[in-house]
Amino acid sequence: MQSTNKNDKKLINLIRGWPSPHLLPAALLKKAADKALTDPSIFVPALQYAPDPGYQPLREELATWLGRAYKTPSRAEEICITGGASQSIACVLQSFTDPVYTRAVWAVTPCYFLAFPIFEDAGFAGRLRAVPEDDEGIDLEFLERGLRSVDEAAAAAGGDDRPPYKTPGPHRKLYRHIIYIVPTCSNPSGKTTSLSHRRALVNLARRHNALIISDDVYDFLQWPILPQAPPTSTALTPLPSPSPTPLLPRLSDIDIALGPSEHDPAGKSFSHAISNGSFSKLVGPGMRTGWVHGTSDFAYGLSQTGSSRSGGAPSQIAAAMLTSLLATGDLDTHLSNAVRPALQARHAAALAAVKSELGGMGVAVRESSEVGKGQFGGYFLWLTLPRGLKGMDVAELARREENLIVAAGEGFEVPGDEGGVRCEGNLRVCFSWEEVEDVVEGVRRLGRVLRRVEDGVKTEEGNGGGMGSEVFK
Ligand SMILES: Cc1ncc(COP(=O)(O)O)c(C=O)c1O
Repeated sequence: MQSTNKNDKKLINLIRGWPSPHLLPAALLKKAADKALTDPSIFVPALQYAPDPGYQPLREELATWLGRAYKTPSRAEEICITGGASQSIACVLQSFTDPVYTRAVWAVTPCYFLAFPIFEDAGFAGRLRAVPEDDEGIDLEFLERGLRSVDEAAAAAGGDDRPPYKTPGPHRKLYRHIIYIVPTCSNPSGKTTSLSHRRALVNLARRHNALIISDDVYDFLQWPILPQAPPTSTALTPLPSPSPTPLLPRLSDIDIALGPSEHDPAGKSFSHAISNGSFSKLVGPGMRTGWVHGTSDFAYGLSQTGSSRSGGAPSQIAAAMLTSLLATGDLDTHLSNAVRPALQARHAAALAAVKSELGGMGVAVRESSEVGKGQFGGYFLWLTLPRGLKGMDVAELARREENLIVAAGEGFEVPGDEGGVRCEGNLRVCFSWEEVEDVVEGVRRLGRVLRRVEDGVKTEEGNGGGMGSEVFK
């Protein structure tokens, strides 16, 4: 097999799910920072320790903005400001789980891989379980069987004799299970969980005293599928805010509507699902600010995580700037006129390239997710490779021969769940970071890699050999 010299090729990174440098709203943030830092009524509290549940004006702006977007009234007391979705998961686990009392973490798989170390840090290494996706987002029967069998095994082993390490106190509680899901435009599969599955999932969690952490970081980054990529970046059409697509209810909204559960301590309603939101992909990951939406008891309980009680809610000055971005409508304008149209155009260009460059080789791609009567695209393309090819082998060859970085499916498998969902025949492509022409060139390079693999396979077959991993060496 002929090898090319990668060094004369520019690096193309289709792993990075970061916003493109051209889409960072620096000027809008400067305006917001000027306002925050010249008005003492803003900068004095914003440069101090925050209240435990976060900067109150941001909680209020978010309640209005989210209420409008999801067409369900939200209250400021149901929102706790966080340091972004990742930090927030860590705090949720610190406050609401216990390494003894909490039996397992159930992760819908393929799963956002950087969540794994957060669960492991909280004591769940070896107790992470993969739950497969189905056509509607999550295989509920599989999950129910799993929850039941873990609960029955615990009961058979003498149940709950071992005392938990943690005493949650009056403002928090411990859950038996955690369920982790990205129900809208999932990272990495791109799937959106249907309304009926959302409802059934919440009811399942309520029966088993589980907390669903619903990572909703892509809810506002969906767009209708374009029939073809726009010819230039000036031909982009605005996509209105808060969302150009119908938004399905958050799992937290479904849960709150059901009221307190049988597992709630007397007088409290922590309930069983939270929405984990983030400004990372809407504004910039460096803002390190997000929010959790849940019952007011849950939001307050989360704010009582030790690090927030000592240091106040994270991201206080960033929260003040984001408040202004929401209040002035600048965030809506930025999302409508810049972020969504650019991502929509890249999505269309990437999809067209995948079809033309890879389709003939048997690569399948998830194009969109159905919501209501529409088909909508999101942040990631999930490719299925043909003929038993392995994502890791293809990704390694792409790096070596084409200076192209793509994410191998294997990385999205749950560590330690050896019998769990396998993703070795997949690749994830993200088009948010590179400019559109580089995204297309990246897909072309992937096509070259796969053609070389094909040629290698044919040669091997001609020589009497089958398709082996030798072709990747
Ligand atoms: C599903 C999911 N959750 C969380 C994050 C990280 O969010 P944050 O930057 O708010 O910590 C990402 C980033 O890619 C993600 O895809």
